[in-house]
Amino acid sequence: MLPPGVKRALHRIIDGGRALTVRGAARKGTADAPAAPVTVPVAAPLPPLDMTAHIPRDHARQVGSQYYIQEAMRAQTPANPVMDLGCGDGASAEIFRSELPVVRWVGVDIVESSTVWDVQGEDVLVFDGVHLPFSDNSFPLVHTNQVFEHVRNPQALLLEIRRVLTPGGIFIGSVSQLEPYHAYSLWGGYTLYGWATLCRDAGLILEEARPSIDSIALITRQYEGAPPEHARYWELSPLNVEIDTWAVETDASVLAVNARKLQFCGQFAFRVRKPLDTPAS
Ligand SMILES: C[S@@+](CC[C@H](N)C(=O)[O-])C[C@H]1O[C@@H](n2cnc3c(N)ncnc32)[C@H](O)[C@@H]1O
Repeated sequence: MLPPGVKRALHRIIDGGRALTVRGAARKGTADAPAAPVTVPVAAPLPPLDMTAHIPRDHARQVGSQYYIQEAMRAQTPANPVMDLGCGDGASAEIFRSELPVVRWVGVDIVESSTVWDVQGEDVLVFDGVHLPFSDNSFPLVHTNQVFEHVRNPQALLLEIRRVLTPGGIFIGSVSQLEPYHAYSLWGGYTLYGWATLCRDAGLILEEARPSIDSIALITRQYEGAPPEHARYWELSPLNVEIDTWAVETDASVLAVNARKLQFCGQFAFRVRKPLDTPAS
């Protein structure tokens, strides 16, 4: 039997709304004892996402975030300038320059980063992890490789990404799904549905996601201390090979193969877009 105060709080949660106000029922005294309300902002409920909309039908290859760098930089109008969010040692600068030598690359990482301070000869900034030090609509492309499983306030940072992207601009990269703890990761990873939902809540659209290394390869590699012979799994990992074999045997569609690989991947790569008609912040 629930105490009446808890019951009322639950009713408020179930009723929904833009914010949940939950009284501190667990404080000393009775459940009805007055306590400062805690206001937790929540996103308004939205219709369910069509998850098949994000799953490509053209090919089911294993890819990393570089796939979307190439796609963007080989387009008729390549993105320029570009921001690498959570740039670490700045390695992506060379990848972008190999696609477009004149690209203006800007790296951004948090003050606490263990690697960003060693970057030499590149345009690099540090920030507080939420407030990007750029004006609105300033980048047609934001890239982030394996960062969001480390991000303390993902929702707030996604809102900032939307702010600094030009209308129609893209946010590309990769993120963990089923990856064990590493390098101060805060989250076990994002499911594809969770990622699509967070992006949508921030006013961004997940256009496409593709499978990267499979989860079993990633877990085994980490468990065994990253033996060098496992390095090849970044290009093609065993479970993804097995799924390709299953596809041939069962004549599965590209969509079905991608869906299967995405469900069991350790990381996935994505392209997210800021809608062209986004109102000014
Ligand atoms: C696994 S490393 C990836 C580094 C680099 N992107 C790469 O691919 O080598 C994760 C990075 O995310 C950074 N990071 C953590 N929280 C962040 C935040 N809120 N905003 C931007 N970067 C963040 C860390 O400092 C670290 O450099």
